[in-house]
Amino acid sequence: MLQQLCFAVFLFASIILASAQAPSAPGKPLPPGPMQAKVKAACTSCHNTTRITEQHLTRQQWSEQFEKMEGLGAVIPDADRDAMLTYLTKNFGPTKGGAAKAGKKPAAE
Ligand code: HEC
Repeated sequence: MLQQLCFAVFLFASIILASAQAPSAPGKPLPPGPMQAKVKAACTSCHNTTRITEQHLTRQQWSEQFEKMEGLGAVIPDADRDAMLTYLTKNFGPTKGGAAKAGKKPAAE
């Protein structure tokens, strides 16, 4: 009985530790630009910037990512959406670093 309780406490503690780790890692810095702060504010509360900086997406694919992130709970102000897409496509677009390989898996849905 006591053994079971200890195991439960251990399990609970490791879940908390594991889930607290990801967002606290700093990630790669976002390049300077007019939307740097806005993207940081809107996009780094759940995961760090590496999720973004490792991508090479077209504007259309970034737009699809925005929709996917909104589905997960991200808040992207309508007024900033276009400028954020421009910023991301300019810095993490398909022309920089080769073709639109979109990281691990194709972002086409
Ligand atoms: C509410 C939490 C949350 C916010 C805010 C958020 N994301 Fe995400 N994001 C996630 C989760 C969860 C995943 C992992 C989803 C998966 O692997 O299917 C993810 C994964 C990603 C990926 C990788 C997708 C892939 O297919 O590998 C990119 C790119 C991304 N997010 C970009 C963004 C951008 C850009 C923003 C800001 C507009 C943003 N995220 C804001 C939760 C969030």
